Amino acid sequence: MAIERTLSIIKPDAVAKNVIGQIYARFEAAGLKVVAARMAHLSRGEAEAFYAVHKERPFFKDLVTFMISGPVMISALEGENAILKHRDLMGATDPKKATAGTIRADFADSIDANAVHGSDAVETAQVEIGFFFAGMNIYSR
Ligand code: PPS
Repeated sequence: MAIERTLSIIKPDAVAKNVIGQIYARFEAAGLKVVAARMAHLSRGEAEAFYAVHKERPFFKDLVTFMISGPVMISALEGENAILKHRDLMGATDPKKATAGTIRADFADSIDANAVHGSDAVETAQVEIGFFFAGMNIYSR
């Protein structure tokens, strides 16, 4: 099994609910290690750039507005099969469709405010980790 890194964002709704620690505990219990982390309140420009791949989608403006509505907790996670493992922990994009026990089933209220973001592929993870952690130390363990 490959050791991978993935980019995790705990979104403004989950930060406001004060569940950063509970979400990190799920990552750690699944064998994912936090190798870089920072809290940020994104500017509109940063959020638009991060989600540029979705700029033609009808929900783009709502997604950006939500993502800048409060601080987010951004982490790089490392572990075996980290990308799929993290996505399994998150659950489906729409919390109503998310499997019981996943982060979105337990902490998200709607498809707009869905608690967490995770990279969807190795290449995307590299780009997304670079977006938030360029020039910063990543503490591979
Ligand atoms: S993916 O990974 O591209 O297949 O995911 P997708 O379901 O297409 O969604 C891409 C991101 O847009 C968010 N999203 C929405 N935001 C607001 N309103 C609606 N209706 C909506 N639908 C999808 C979704 O949470 C994804 O954001 P991230 O941050 O990547 O999870």
